[in-house]
Amino acid sequence: MVEIRSASTTPSCRGRLRLSQQVYIVLLIATLLLIILSTSIFGNIVQPSSVSDNHVHIRAIDNLRKTDAPSIGIDMEQPSIHERDTIEYKTYPGFIGEVSVKCGGHEARTCDECPQGNGASWCHGQCEWIDEKCVRSSQLEHLHPDYFRITARYAFQPVMNNNHVFVNVIMVRSPFRNRDDEDVYKFYRDEILFLGISSFESFPLKSPNPYSAKYESEYYLNMFPGFLHMMRDPNVYFPDSTKTILMSQSDFMLDEPQFFRQEHANDAKIYDFVYSGGVSRDQLFYFAQIIMHIITNSILFDQFQDQDVETDCVGWASYNKNFSFVREALEVMCSSEFNVTGVLVANKNKADTMACTIPAACDGKIVQTTFLDQDEFFDYLVKARWVFLPQICDASPRVSTQALSMDIPLLMNRNIMGGWKYVVPGRTGEFFHDMSDFKDSLRTILDNTRGGRRSNPYKPLEFVQKHYGNINAGPKLYEFVMTHWGDKIRFPEGTTALIPTGA
Ligand SMILES: *[C@@H]1O[C@H](CO)[C@@H](O)[C@H](O)[C@H]1NC(C)=O
Ligand SMILES: *[C@@H]1O[C@H](CO)[C@@H](O)[C@H](O)[C@H]1NC(C)=O
Repeated sequence: MVEIRSASTTPSCRGRLRLSQQVYIVLLIATLLLIILSTSIFGNIVQPSSVSDNHVHIRAIDNLRKTDAPSIGIDMEQPSIHERDTIEYKTYPGFIGEVSVKCGGHEARTCDECPQGNGASWCHGQCEWIDEKCVRSSQLEHLHPDYFRITARYAFQPVMNNNHVFVNVIMVRSPFRNRDDEDVYKFYRDEILFLGISSFESFPLKSPNPYSAKYESEYYLNMFPGFLHMMRDPNVYFPDSTKTILMSQSDFMLDEPQFFRQEHANDAKIYDFVYSGGVSRDQLFYFAQIIMHIITNSILFDQFQDQDVETDCVGWASYNKNFSFVREALEVMCSSEFNVTGVLVANKNKADTMACTIPAACDGKIVQTTFLDQDEFFDYLVKARWVFLPQICDASPRVSTQALSMDIPLLMNRNIMGGWKYVVPGRTGEFFHDMSDFKDSLRTILDNTRGGRRSNPYKPLEFVQKHYGNINAGPKLYEFVMTHWGDKIRFPEGTTALIPTGA
């Protein structure tokens, strides 16, 4: 018998856990690297390298008001493209380094200085050759000039419209990380619309993550004019002044898993379930780890990729993913009454030498993997009959909509903070409360998906395609923004949807 480590105290999403100092060092380095990385990524995305058919020209109203103060508040009229290049914008004084624009292959201080005598061919990227002059690209005309400097920081997430053009809206997706993130927000909040979004752990509520644990739970609830949340009862938390909408990061960007499923349409189902202990964790760790690995070949990050394998899966990540409950559930699942087969992802250290202990009865039934990248993870997912989500402290469980997009139903803890809206019992999966009803729900989802006499009643893909994904959530978000801030913000022509980019 394997001893089951059940949580003696009632776990809640407000607890504090151990704090590793290494994490701070790592975060610092990672943030710096991420800034560099993001700047170059987003720089590339906005580069219309050459003028093509779909090159959208959005010209400002030629209504120059040269006497006005050179400010472009979202509620002020925007100066024209020609004027804009010459205006000195107020830039947050804390930004490090020279102000520069991307000219295509190189950078310069201003668009004006891009060509260096080479004419139009040296004027691309964020700039554009118009009337024999290199000026700020008309594609970016509506966008605040410092937009990408802000979104280079992890907490600030850029937003695109349906034509993949960035817009003057920024999502705040996690607690502030840089010392002065809040100053940056306050500096620009009259010129760019900042909205909170549930994406990271329990944000905007306090979370057990040691980095997030430093703020009061009320701290972010009335900071932004609006919030995209995953709560059952937002009115309990948000003040009336904060406009809210039931929407989160996991509602968006579902094409990839849907496409993956099409590509793997013939893959056989070989596991009953997949449980993800680490994949949907903080993307920063993931990026940072890759970058660090490239630069230093360091293994410093190993302990962050997997569950807390070194401490036998008691710790920060395991808590987030409720691994103590998984252990209890495994006793049931691996028993000969059920003979469940499954995959526990990120349940082993990277070196593949150590795994979280699981009940002996699971031998030969349960596969434990190291941390996986997205494609490897999808490879397991597509071979599973359902996904197991026992966690509570998760406001936007990405794996839930990824699974639905692969036509895979969910077995979910009913007390989960966000993601509960994805489970319609009998249609997209089943709920359970705790051990008392776990067996029943397990029996139901097994019988429904094992291809016995009962036909599979679940239609997860149909459900997710009808309600979520960019095509549904995008126009809803646009409508939400237009309803509350439509008079203050100007979107590029043809905007009908808004999409928070990234993970
Ligand atoms: C589970 O597996 C064991 C050993 O192979 C077998 O004896 C038992 O009948 C199985 N139980 C079910 C419900 O299939
Ligand atoms: C794990 O799930 C059980 C059953 O719902 C619950 O009682 C417990 O609080 C959860 N723990 C965590 C850390 O989410």
